[in-house]
Amino acid sequence: MILFQILVLLSQLVGLAGITLIGVWMGKLGGFGWDGSGKEFNLHPLLMTIGLIFLYAEAILAYRVFRNSKKVYIKSLHGIIHMLAFVCAVVGLKAVFDNHNANNISNMYSLHSWIGLTTVILFGLQLLCGFVTFLFPGLQQSLRAVYLPTHVYFGVFIFGMAVATALMGITEKLLFTLKVPPNDYASLPETARIGNSAGFFFVIFAAIVGFLVTYPDYKREPTEDEEYEHQPIIMK
Ligand code: HEM
Repeated sequence: MILFQILVLLSQLVGLAGITLIGVWMGKLGGFGWDGSGKEFNLHPLLMTIGLIFLYAEAILAYRVFRNSKKVYIKSLHGIIHMLAFVCAVVGLKAVFDNHNANNISNMYSLHSWIGLTTVILFGLQLLCGFVTFLFPGLQQSLRAVYLPTHVYFGVFIFGMAVATALMGITEKLLFTLKVPPNDYASLPETARIGNSAGFFFVIFAAIVGFLVTYPDYKREPTEDEEYEHQPIIMK
């Protein structure tokens, strides 16, 4: 289990490094504000990556890191972190739409925006279905067991979509801001190195989180408060 602990620690360092670099980069592009200007845009990359990459992964990892705790506590933690992630995503989206509308820039024209909005919508639906199925009292255990594999699949898939969206967004922003030689993207100035590195860290983060979540030895052992995942489903 020492490898597990090292990988969890490494994931945290790499994830936080990615977020910090996004913050530093946006700081260099003028900092933050809520006035429709570029400063409001700058909140978009920071909040989207904090919410849909870092917090999202923390919510997933809760099931591995606290795997000896009672399931009801982990479930609640998982749900609360996901809700925080969703709030970050909604405010981050509002920031970019406000900035576009205030500056007469078209909305939803890029592949980044199409995949990005789809990611947020799927994330919201996943959150809703998760709440209704797993946290709402009274739902039949067998129904929960039927839905669980779908929930797990979409959880990992949407996380992958969020990372892909962030990579596209980083590239777009670098191309938008670094146009003129000698400070164009191709000359790899400081902000390009920062943006590229942030993206690189997110890919490593996703690789580690993906491993921690799928490696069979790291799966939770059921505690006595949970029965439904392991009950056979009786088909009549
Ligand atoms: C990971 C989560 C992210 C999601 C879900 C997301 C989603 C979106 C959406 C839906 C838009 C369209 C807004 C509009 O049309 O008014 C947008 C715009 C934009 N985003 Fe992101 N974004 C994410 C991360 C990032 C990151 C990390 C950057 C890097 C700097 C970024 C840079 C941009 C840029 C430059 C635009 C304006 C150009 C365009 O519409 O493509 N985004 N984003």
